[in-house]
Amino acid sequence: MNLRFDDNSITVAIVGCGGFIGSHLLDAVLERTRWRVFGVDLDFYRLQHRLNHERCEFLCADLADSAVVERIAKFPLVVNLAAICTPSRYMGEACEVIRSNYDHPAALAEACAKSGSWLVHFSTSEIYGKTAADSGELLEDSTPAVFGPVTASRWSYATAKLLAERYIAGLPDLRWTVVRPFNFVGPYMDFMPGVDGEGIPRVLANFSTALVRGEPLKLVNGGRAKRCFTSVHDAVDFLFALFDAGTSDSGVAPDAASANAGCAGVFSQAFNVGNPENEVSIAELAAKMRAIFAKVRGVDVSMLPEPQSVSGEEYYGVGYDDSMRRMPSVAKAERLLGFKARIPLDVALEESLAWFVKHYSV
Ligand code: UGA
Repeated sequence: MNLRFDDNSITVAIVGCGGFIGSHLLDAVLERTRWRVFGVDLDFYRLQHRLNHERCEFLCADLADSAVVERIAKFPLVVNLAAICTPSRYMGEACEVIRSNYDHPAALAEACAKSGSWLVHFSTSEIYGKTAADSGELLEDSTPAVFGPVTASRWSYATAKLLAERYIAGLPDLRWTVVRPFNFVGPYMDFMPGVDGEGIPRVLANFSTALVRGEPLKLVNGGRAKRCFTSVHDAVDFLFALFDAGTSDSGVAPDAASANAGCAGVFSQAFNVGNPENEVSIAELAAKMRAIFAKVRGVDVSMLPEPQSVSGEEYYGVGYDDSMRRMPSVAKAERLLGFKARIPLDVALEESLAWFVKHYSV
C-alpha cells in the first residue's frame, strides 16, 4: 500500500472521529502527516478546534446509513472506532449494542472488501471474555475465550465484537487489521454524567466525576478486578507504527493461514494494544486517583470520602458480570511493528485527572 505520511493526496476515513480515541487520532494525523481526514460521527463537540481545518471534512452520520458506508469505503484507509462501549449499556440495550458492534462494522467491512480499502477495525480486549483472577497473558492467536451465560447480558458487547472480528477475518479480499484496546485512558475519555452524557461511564471518568463532586468512589464487588490501563497517546503511537508498516507491506491481503504462520505483515492480523506494566486492581486505582486528586487540589487525602463497595448488579443492573484480569501479551506488536507502550500508569492518570478537573470546572 502506498500510504506515505508526506503524501497530501491521501485521505483517511475515521469513523467515530468525534470520540475519545478518534479525537486524539485526528490531532495526530493532522500533526504528523499531510493527509486529509474524512471524519464521521454523531457529534463533534470534542473537535471544536478542528471544525474549520482545511484538511478535514466532517459528516454527522452513523453506519446505519448504507450511503454513508459506501462513501467511507471510497478512501484507501478506513479506521473504524465507532461503538457503544460503556458496560452500563450492555444490559439494558443489548440489541442496540449488538447492532452497533456487529451489524454496522460488518456492513463497512463488506464495502471495504469491494473497494479495496485497508480496514483498521477497533475491537476490544473484552473478546477474551470472562477471564479469571488467575488467568495469564492473553495471546491474540491462541488464548481461548469463555463467556457468561446468555442471561448475563454483559456479554452482548463482547460476543458482538467477537463475531465482527470473525466476519472481517472471513471476508475474502478484505485487507484488514483488528486492534484490541486494553483500557485506554486520557483526556476526553467518556463523559461526566448529567453534563455531557447520561448513565455510568467507564471507571476512569466515573472515579473522576466522583472526586470532582466530593462523592465516594464506588468499588464494584470490592474493586478486586484488575486492568492494564494504557495511555491513549501510546494507542496513537501504535496506530502510526501500524500505518507505517502497512505502507511498506506488499499490498496483497494474505490469507489467514499464511498470516497465522507468521509470514504476513500487518494485514489479516489482530493486535493487542495495552501496557502490561500498568496492571492495577480497581481498588488500587481508586487509591491512586484519590492521591492524585488530593495533590491536584492541594488538599489532604483524608479530607476525601472513603471508597464504598457495591455489588455489580446493584450498580449496573441485572445481567452484569465481569472479567477479573486482563493482561495482554504484547509480543506480537513488538515483533511485527517494533511497538511497545511506554507511558507509566501514574503519568497517564495524572494527565487524565488534571484534564478532567480543568475541563469540567469551566
Ligand atoms: C470496558 C469495555 O467493555 C471494553 O470494551 C473496553 O475495551 C474497556 O472498557 C476499555 O476501556 O478498554 P471494562 O474494563 O470492564 O470494559 O470497563 P470499566 O467500566 O472501565 O470497568 C473496569 C472495572 O472497574 C470493572 O471491574 C468495573 O466493575 C469496575 N468499576 C467501574 C468500578 O469498580 N467502579 C466504577 O465506578 C466503574
